[in-house]
Amino acid sequence: MTLRLLHFSDPHVQLPRWRERSLRELGPLRALATVELWKGRGRDYDGALDKLRAIVRDADALRADFCILTGDLTQLAHEEEFALARQALEPIVPRLLCIPGNHDRYPLGTTANKLYEKYFPEASLLPRAITDQVAVVPVDTVGELSWPVLSHGRVERPQLRQLERTLGDPAWAARCKLVLTHHSPTRRGARRDWPLHDLRGAGALLRSCASGADAILCGHVHDRFDDAARAGRPRVICAGSATERNKEGYWLIEIERGRIAAVTRRRLGGATA
Ligand SMILES: [Fe+2]
Ligand SMILES: [Fe+2]
Repeated sequence: MTLRLLHFSDPHVQLPRWRERSLRELGPLRALATVELWKGRGRDYDGALDKLRAIVRDADALRADFCILTGDLTQLAHEEEFALARQALEPIVPRLLCIPGNHDRYPLGTTANKLYEKYFPEASLLPRAITDQVAVVPVDTVGELSWPVLSHGRVERPQLRQLERTLGDPAWAARCKLVLTHHSPTRRGARRDWPLHDLRGAGALLRSCASGADAILCGHVHDRFDDAARAGRPRVICAGSATERNKEGYWLIEIERGRIAAVTRRRLGGATA
């Protein structure tokens, strides 16, 4: 039996009519992030919510058994954005596996932002077998707090030790093991990401996954690529941003007998890209 996974990332649902919002409404930190919107990002994501709804319809049309969302649901971690994202994703929530991204962790004032947990209480960062063929192993690269502009992530040694124990668990030997991270450990072609955007500990993460993981599924880098495994590193499947203007899309990953059988790039609407 073939299991079908729809992997998408970085939908960046943003405030409707953000151009009309006052800085007081956004808060000082978001005002800083809003500079990015005015520089062009806002225009690139004006249709993000409708595109997210289209992906939800595609999940049905493509008979996806599970949908995997590797973070950056929102643009500014604003409550209104989370509410809209939740509403759009509602039909697939029972089969949705999602993790937060750095944009979902912009603080509220000076305190950590827990709106992701409020709107997606079903989401879990615990490793789990989702069928007898597949196990997912989320690794949090964001932490509790993230700041606009400084968008790098981090993976710590205790997380990697736990990851290696999980991947080596004989109970999961026959399953396809997919490690889920928000930050991609590399850019396309195993190139390093730039310092304010990269993943600290990326090399160690790749080594920890090299023998036990079938692939790392990630986002953050807004480029959709599928880099094959090579010596000392696993396959890296980065979903890019599903809703960015002129770059829309996602991956359809098919699993057979506990291994990845096919990975196809899809446009919104489900057609092969
Ligand atoms: Fe992103
Ligand atoms: Fe990100």
